[in-house]
Amino acid sequence: MKVNVLFTPLGVDDLYFKDKTTVVIDVLRASSTIVTALNNGAKEIIPVAGIESAIKLSGGMFGGHTLLCGERNTKKIDGFALGNSPFEFTRELVSNKTIVLYTTNGTKALVKAKFSENLFIGSFLNLNFLTNHLLNLNNNLEIVCAGNNNHFSLEDALCAGFICDKILTKEKDVQLTDSAKAAIALKKKYNQNINETISESDHGRILIENGFEKDIQYCAQNSVIDIIPFYNNGSIKVLNNL
Ligand code: MLT
Repeated sequence: MKVNVLFTPLGVDDLYFKDKTTVVIDVLRASSTIVTALNNGAKEIIPVAGIESAIKLSGGMFGGHTLLCGERNTKKIDGFALGNSPFEFTRELVSNKTIVLYTTNGTKALVKAKFSENLFIGSFLNLNFLTNHLLNLNNNLEIVCAGNNNHFSLEDALCAGFICDKILTKEKDVQLTDSAKAAIALKKKYNQNINETISESDHGRILIENGFEKDIQYCAQNSVIDIIPFYNNGSIKVLNNL
């Protein structure tokens, strides 16, 4: 099993992912929000790479069952039903709903990886459950950090490091690329306090400035939700038949 980490999606194009098994991580906050929304009963999430396409897509859908959601500069976009805070995606609001989601980095990374044969969404929240599934699959793996406006982000790299380290511990026959080894080194340095580490990250500080400190505490929880969001044919649903 070969494991590679892309610290940003910048260096590859969409076709890079063809036939690959891929995990996209955007800890703050798109992947944590997707895990939460599906855990709270959302029917599906449709990730989009642009605000215009989000509006068009949700306009063409049956209104009462679709929520247009997303953020720009961490804040809910005018006219959208919800922003991108996991706390907004309550069972009451999202149960049985289709969610059209646009975010600055996370949904763009997901759309870029759309040609993957298997495309999963990872976060600290579903870390162990997802990693156990990846170990069972035993496919070569691409872990894509959504990053921050094409720059490295510590929280995504740290989460990737946790996944790589667990794979290395459980699977004897693993080949790690340099970036996967670097992600594990980050995990070993920062694993004592995920919350503190990501609070002090670039994106963490921006979220705190914008009043989302609780989101960071929430997104820093390790392995508290046992679901795997799986992208297929434009939509993300809970992976069943594990
Ligand atoms: C992103 O996709 O860049 C993030 O999820 C932004 C955020 O909501 O904090």
